[in-house]
Amino acid sequence: MEIVPGPSSPLLASRIADKLGVKLSKTNYRVFPDGELYVRVGCKDSESVIVQSINSNNDLIFLLLLLDALEGKEISVVIPYMGYSRQDRVFHEGEALSVRAIARLIEGYSERVLSVNIHSKEARKHFKRLEEVDAMPVIGMNFADDDILMVAPDKGACEEVKRAAKVADCDFDYLEKTRLSSENVVMKAKNFNISGKKVVIVDDIISTGGTIIEATNMLVKSGAKEVDAVCVHPVLTNFALNRLYAEGVYKVIGTDTIEKPVSEITVAEIIADSF
Ligand code: R5P
Repeated sequence: MEIVPGPSSPLLASRIADKLGVKLSKTNYRVFPDGELYVRVGCKDSESVIVQSINSNNDLIFLLLLLDALEGKEISVVIPYMGYSRQDRVFHEGEALSVRAIARLIEGYSERVLSVNIHSKEARKHFKRLEEVDAMPVIGMNFADDDILMVAPDKGACEEVKRAAKVADCDFDYLEKTRLSSENVVMKAKNFNISGKKVVIVDDIISTGGTIIEATNMLVKSGAKEVDAVCVHPVLTNFALNRLYAEGVYKVIGTDTIEKPVSEITVAEIIADSF
């Protein structure tokens, strides 16, 4: 087996290869002046494992080209962050069901598909053989020595946060969020007894940061001493980190499903354990 590092996940791929004690394939990626992409892979083994998050449209095309370059081999694909999974249903007539299109593409080329905390049950349904890895226990482990309260930004995220809180051995609660648009959310006021407490908001994705900012405002008003935010997938679009810190979040932490400066927690071991 060889691990093929996609251009969006070079560090995680090398960590997985290290855990498994297998070779990392040599790769060559280029962007032509007209924006077209180029891929060359030096994978010698008949079994290849591509590691490539989909966090941009180029990431998706690079993945498609990698799948083509490895034609004839037994291919497994690890997509640590499955972009497009928030369009997991047709909300308005005539829309593309984006995650279904992605699922069809990837499964058409590969034997195995693995991902980490895909956004929803609905998104999962569009894959025929998706294997999912749960990062919540490793997130929990990161806070095992801290005296904290974990908070889910909405009721739907409660089950995930519960799994992190169990490992961190701390209490958890949830907020009630209503999404107004892709960039705006509102939180229903809630009576918390968190005076002087360190609170950690746990979410699957931090994208624009809107959810975390609203949650932080409410938690600070309720008396929290410090508010941190941790997520599986630090998408952090449109200078979200700058806004998060300016709005009073003390620390933002993510995993390396998306490689960002805040990606302090690695999912390499839990992915490697699947092979
Ligand atoms: C929503 O269902 C997700 O769990 C996240 O809360 C959401 O994707 C975060 O987005 P943003 O950072 O743009 O508020």
